[in-house]
Amino acid sequence: MKKLGIALDFTEIEDAEKFLYDIEDKDLIIKVGYSLFVKYGKDITDFVKSRGFELFLDLKLHDIPNTVYNGVKSAVYAGADYLTVHTLGGKEMLEKAVEAKKDSDLKLLGVTVLTSHDNSYVEYIGSKYTIKELTLNLAKTAVDVGIDGIVCSVEEVSFLKENIDKDFIAVTPGIRLEKDSKDDQKRIATPDEAVGKGANILIVGRPIIKAENPNEKIKEIKEKMQI
Ligand code: C5P
Repeated sequence: MKKLGIALDFTEIEDAEKFLYDIEDKDLIIKVGYSLFVKYGKDITDFVKSRGFELFLDLKLHDIPNTVYNGVKSAVYAGADYLTVHTLGGKEMLEKAVEAKKDSDLKLLGVTVLTSHDNSYVEYIGSKYTIKELTLNLAKTAVDVGIDGIVCSVEEVSFLKENIDKDFIAVTPGIRLEKDSKDDQKRIATPDEAVGKGANILIVGRPIIKAENPNEKIKEIKEKMQI
């Protein structure tokens, strides 16, 4: 599976709608985070679906198992195709999340250790593992209980795919074409590198939403991904 996802990182629904109206290619996943979702809820999710795109709700659910169960049910109701949950929520929480999406086409994606964290955070939460070990443990547990995919950096994809027996969808942000600005991303990879390392869904935000010609940019990235 190779797909392109756009991070719809706007704060006003008018800007998000204006952007999506102009996008010609419908074979895209649109990632809605909480900047839009908290403010506009079903208005924004319905809009994304009504334009024919796949909907990715990036809400990184992390709570007691029963609350996450209900959250996942609500995401199914909202028509989400993808939803992120936080693997640090634990095995039981992840199991309830998987149970909640039963009989739907929703794909659950697990977030592991955020890229804003370093080893001092891992120490802070009392883990005896390094970030790399912890990331693998969390991802492995998630995939084992039926989480469909893992959000990770391009650098981690091969390591996780080699060490996790079951197949999973690798979702990678931090993608840039050579000529693009890095913005605030510390480590970046090109679309062809990401795909070469086994990434399945590439998430691109600013290089597309701030492009002078987003349609051209999408075409260019997809060409590099050979899709
Ligand atoms: O604009 P840019 O392409 O950097 O956007 C990347 C998207 O992926 C943003 O929505 C960002 O929040 C998300 N993301 C990330 N790094 C992570 C996890 C998520 O950039 N480790």
